[in-house]
Amino acid sequence: MVLDFAMLGQLTQLFGPSGSEELVAEFISTQVRSYCDELKTDTLGNLIVGRHGSGKKIMVAAHMDEIGLMITHIDKKGFLRFTPLGGVRISNLIGQRVKFSKGSVGTIGVEKLDKPSDFKLDKLYLDIGVSTREEAEQLISIGETAVFGGDFVETGSRIISKALDDRVGCFVAIEALKRTKSTHELAFVFTVQEEIGTRGARTAAYALEPDLAIAVDVTATGDTPKAHPMSVELGSGVGIKVLDHSMITSPQIKRWMAAVATERNIPFQWEVLEYGGTDSGAIHLSKGGVPSGVLSIPTRYVHSPAEMLDKRDVEAAVELLVALLERPTELCQG
Ligand code: CO
Ligand code: ZN
Repeated sequence: MVLDFAMLGQLTQLFGPSGSEELVAEFISTQVRSYCDELKTDTLGNLIVGRHGSGKKIMVAAHMDEIGLMITHIDKKGFLRFTPLGGVRISNLIGQRVKFSKGSVGTIGVEKLDKPSDFKLDKLYLDIGVSTREEAEQLISIGETAVFGGDFVETGSRIISKALDDRVGCFVAIEALKRTKSTHELAFVFTVQEEIGTRGARTAAYALEPDLAIAVDVTATGDTPKAHPMSVELGSGVGIKVLDHSMITSPQIKRWMAAVATERNIPFQWEVLEYGGTDSGAIHLSKGGVPSGVLSIPTRYVHSPAEMLDKRDVEAAVELLVALLERPTELCQG
């Protein structure tokens, strides 16, 4: 399968912290327009791409937002303070390049620390290269958001970039939409505000009332030096979620996904993630409950500016998603 990884590169470099996903939605719209019957944006900003069919109504979800930060204060000398948007790790922040929507760039510095345990978020500041509050205010306002810099690089079968969480999920959904011959009613939902609590997915699932839902997102791996033990590694196939902090996948959904993967010779790995969650956490609890599963892309250094994945796992994810949409489980409602 030949995937357009250059398009994934474009997706990762778009500005889209939680609450400001418009540029990502616009880009995805141009990608999918000629492959769908309906294209709309809902109240929260989710992009909903519909393909008419009969039979089951299947929702595919991938989140457009990335982690970032929001400016809370500007001091007399023009240094900025910020609050995190999503699961930002302090240890990843020192020396990081930060980008605003209108092009301003800053670097994150840290106050003098008396002891290592003083290393907390409130000791960090953002330096945008100005000397006064007035100069800073000409560039940035309180409440503005920013993302971390992190170029897209291909190295052998691997990719390194910022925001692979979850632009790779958006990419898998787009590529599956372009390829699917499913005769079912499909709604590809590119969600907003996942990183701050799966908010877009919640309202989208409630409004759509799908018979079945599949989310696509990244997951962690256990294949780096002295990593927390976890049986997911780069290059061994798409992850089929068993559990994370937001849901337990039902045995029927797991069996269906694994059976389709096995039948088509698509490599997969069982994913048990002992923390975190994704859009499925919200979707499977919508209304009376929605049968839900998750395809996970094994990714190292999640929520850093240099996340890493393996292209073969992305290919496996697209193949499996295409196959699942053609043959939804009999056990879903509707
Ligand atoms: Co994330
Ligand atoms: Zn994610």
